[in-house]
Amino acid sequence: MKALVLAGGIGSRLRPITHTFAKQLLPIANKPVLFYGLESIRDAGIREVGIVVGDTTAKEIEAAVGDGSEFGLEVTYIFQQEPRGLAHAVIISRDYLGDDDFVMYLGDNFVIGGISDFVDRFRREGPQAQVMLTKVTDPQAFGVAELGEDGAIVGVEEKPQHPTGDLVLIGVYAFDSTVHQAVLEIKPSRRNELEITDAIQWLIDHGHRVDPMVTSGYWRDAGSVHDILAVNRFVLEGIEPAVAGEVDAVSELIGHVVVEEGAVVADSKIVGPVVLGAGSVVRGSFVGPFTSIDRDCVVIDSEIEHSIVLRGAHIESVARLEQSLIGRETRVVATQDVSKTHRFILGDHNNVQVGR
Ligand code: TTP
Repeated sequence: MKALVLAGGIGSRLRPITHTFAKQLLPIANKPVLFYGLESIRDAGIREVGIVVGDTTAKEIEAAVGDGSEFGLEVTYIFQQEPRGLAHAVIISRDYLGDDDFVMYLGDNFVIGGISDFVDRFRREGPQAQVMLTKVTDPQAFGVAELGEDGAIVGVEEKPQHPTGDLVLIGVYAFDSTVHQAVLEIKPSRRNELEITDAIQWLIDHGHRVDPMVTSGYWRDAGSVHDILAVNRFVLEGIEPAVAGEVDAVSELIGHVVVEEGAVVADSKIVGPVVLGAGSVVRGSFVGPFTSIDRDCVVIDSEIEHSIVLRGAHIESVARLEQSLIGRETRVVATQDVSKTHRFILGDHNNVQVGR
């Protein structure tokens, strides 16, 4: 059995970060979201992994994951010219997959509890397809599965206006080789993508067995700032305190705080759960709960909470930052200007909120 990890796409909901950065590498408690998925795949006993990458993600994902040996995996990269849908990603992976069974895993998904039970069940039961489902309160934003009285899936629909239920497909699927016929038979959807839900519907319509597996475990598609902050909060809630860096005598660490090696905390208060990455400096500042600060960042005379700060960012004299996602090497600095004007150098698709 192989795995196919989808890590192309355009990531429009996470612009401008995704103009220059693969959203699958956004850090959750300072570890890329994709790494959690790769570890789950390995833990399920799968070794061969194809990673679908696109224009904006290929270089960075290949640099971060390499040949996969650090994860105990053998990784092959499959280049998708354009993000034409999840079923399109299966089409272009045909040579790599051959006739093997495979698990398809969306690279920006976060599934607590792993996929071992899911994979074991697929191996044991041998259906043509198996999908992981969970209950949500806003099914119209997802692919919705309709179950018959016997619990079998009778239909799936992508982002329906009038959902037939509240069980939705999350980003983990398993297929045998029958799916390769399905993905070639379907037509592009209204949003001009080849939808995996249409391929699954094709399997059902042609008498193939598609099994559901409902999970009540934590799951999120880390595709928007709101969701990525929520996943970060969830993971930080489980961290164990560990201080390998330097904390001076006047600083206070409260709750679960990780200070990685080479990080410095001076004249500051940190209220966990918080992770401070290697080589970062926090001075004269307050860092509040649910904050991850990646490596080589600087936070001076500022207050920040419930945020994710990427590598090399510099935050200085900022009264309070919250629920923010700060990109790599970004500077957020307050000036002494009494006229209260703001000065920005912003790229495309930024989202800035200032007090009135
Ligand atoms: P999505 O989050 O559905 O799509 P997207 O990445 O384009 O983001 P947005 O909706 O914000 O524009 O994709 C789920 C995962 O699948 C993600 O890791 C990207 C990947 N993907 C591909 O690899 N190829 C594709 O053609 C598509 C649509 C997505």
